[in-house]
Amino acid sequence: MVTRLVLFVLPCVLLFEKAYTATNRTFPSYFKFGVATASYQVEGAWNEDGKGENIWDHVCHTNSTFIDNKDNGDVACDSYHKYKEDVQMIKNLGVDYYRFSLSWSRILPRGLAGTPVNQLGINYYRNLTQELLDNGIEPMVTMFHWDLPEPLQDIGGWPNPELEDHFVYYARTVFEQLGDLVKFWMTFNEPKQTCQEGYGLGVMAPGIKSSGIADYKCAHTLIKAHAKTYHLYDDEFRAKQNGSIGIVADTTWYEPASGSDADKAAAERALQFKFGWFLNPIVNGNYPQVMIDRVDERSKKQGFAQSRLPKFTDEEIEYIKGTHDFVAVNTYTTNYAQDVEEPDSDELSYESDMKVELFLDDDWEESASSWLRVVPWGIRKLVNWVSKTYNNPEIFITENGVSDRGGIEDENRTSFYREYLSNILEAIEEDGVNVTRYTAWSLMDNFEWARGYAEKYGLYSVDFKSSNRTRTPKASADYYKQVITTRCLVNSC
Ligand SMILES: *[C@@H]1O[C@H](CO)[C@@H](O)[C@H](O)[C@H]1NC(C)=O
Ligand SMILES: *[C@@H]1O[C@H](CO)[C@@H](O)[C@H](O)[C@H]1NC(C)=O
Ligand SMILES: *[C@@H]1O[C@H](CO)[C@@H](O)[C@H](O)[C@H]1NC(C)=O
Ligand SMILES: *[C@@H]1O[C@H](CO)[C@@H](O)[C@H](O)[C@H]1NC(C)=O
Ligand SMILES: *[C@@H]1O[C@H](CO)[C@@H](O)[C@H](O)[C@H]1NC(C)=O
Ligand SMILES: *[C@@H]1O[C@H](CO)[C@@H](O)[C@H](O)[C@H]1NC(C)=O
Repeated sequence: MVTRLVLFVLPCVLLFEKAYTATNRTFPSYFKFGVATASYQVEGAWNEDGKGENIWDHVCHTNSTFIDNKDNGDVACDSYHKYKEDVQMIKNLGVDYYRFSLSWSRILPRGLAGTPVNQLGINYYRNLTQELLDNGIEPMVTMFHWDLPEPLQDIGGWPNPELEDHFVYYARTVFEQLGDLVKFWMTFNEPKQTCQEGYGLGVMAPGIKSSGIADYKCAHTLIKAHAKTYHLYDDEFRAKQNGSIGIVADTTWYEPASGSDADKAAAERALQFKFGWFLNPIVNGNYPQVMIDRVDERSKKQGFAQSRLPKFTDEEIEYIKGTHDFVAVNTYTTNYAQDVEEPDSDELSYESDMKVELFLDDDWEESASSWLRVVPWGIRKLVNWVSKTYNNPEIFITENGVSDRGGIEDENRTSFYREYLSNILEAIEEDGVNVTRYTAWSLMDNFEWARGYAEKYGLYSVDFKSSNRTRTPKASADYYKQVITTRCLVNSC
């Protein structure tokens, strides 16, 4: 009897704990929920209605080993033709806003400043935006989510300082053409990925491998382009369009691998190299001091006449400082951060400049993405760190979610959202962190960059075998909808 009881009770207790660890507090009335996608990942119509080629079109069509399964975004979710259906899916979730991005090559097919606007591309975004507004959904628009026009890559891409002015021309076009409808602007999505993976490690388009050189140059151009766009909005558009503007930066939470001072400093250094790289200039005017010091010193040892980390002038520092109306963060997971010995000076890379070893804990629950483990407490620590480091700003979570390999009974995604949202709610209520928006990534399964269609992040599944790209809500979509309706994460609050 006793044995039976123990055997029976133990799993029950475990189940109970698993299901009810989330807080039973409710989200404050001002808190808003959204859902996100990005142009290249969902639109398709890669060469329709005058769209030009971008770096993802190019890499998919020219390098058969770059993308898993030789997948490409030619059709993707076909959102270019199915945007009305997308809006009904978004409406069904009950979210307040939809975060999507604009394809630069659809709007300016040749990419360069001073080249003609493609009116059909503008029409598409006006149609989508109007459809959202007509359905009571706020548009939140990212201008650049990785799909650089190929003609701009042909002149060197982001490491070329000239791109600043090409971007600002595009931004002006977009404010002029869409600014009457859009009140939330994000200049860049995850510039760290654009620069580090695109121009440093070369694992994302355009696939340039120049770690410790081109990645820093890329970031420098991009930060200046962001600041100039912010000022352009302030000087010429804000008074009549009345919107807000910021940048979306991403970071993992870095947890010290031990209680040692060296590992604690390593975790802080990782956060500064990954997130402070972009946020410190935008909030305080310049790169984090630890980054300046380390790259300057290693460059010198390596025989460079100038630091590999470009310098902002004093005027630029003043100009860049404060160019944000909010702090937008994309985050998915946690790594342990451990200090390592100073790498030999002949090792030239961003990683050796950072001098931190990052690793995952095998005990953390896996996802379909090798880099993503489910670590709900990490997001609470991260938003606390962001709040403390950047003087208690208004924080938006602009992406958060988890991948699997498919199926609409996605309990793991449901529990991911429950546990991560619970930690955010605790950060708001117990730690006083000012998080006001949460954005689930993603509305639907889509083109997951170099991983193609195999890693799925959607609240809706998409049948990529059907020309109809049929969408089906998953269990997690029902859960998210219920959270938004009840503002509660568990069965009752
Ligand atoms: C194609 O992609 C693979 C995998 O990223 C890379 O190793 C290779 O250098 C690329 N080839 C060309 C010609 O860029
Ligand atoms: C935009 O909407 C108009 C009017 O309904 C339609 O004629 C046009 O085809 C749409 N364009 C795109 C690109 O969706
Ligand atoms: C600007 O937006 C704010 C907040 O939505 C609103 O209170 C204000 O009336 C708007 N001002 C103008 C000029 O539209
Ligand atoms: C959060 O930030 C917004 C925008 O700055 C502000 O209106 C609000 O009072 C802040 N809330 C808290 C709790 O700090
Ligand atoms: C779901 O999560 C459990 C642990 O809670 C894990 O063992 C399992 O592999 C996950 N399933 C999928 C499909 O990721
Ligand atoms: C195409 O998708 C729509 C919406 O999901 C659905 O109503 C329609 O039946 C589908 N058609 C086919 C042929 O699958």
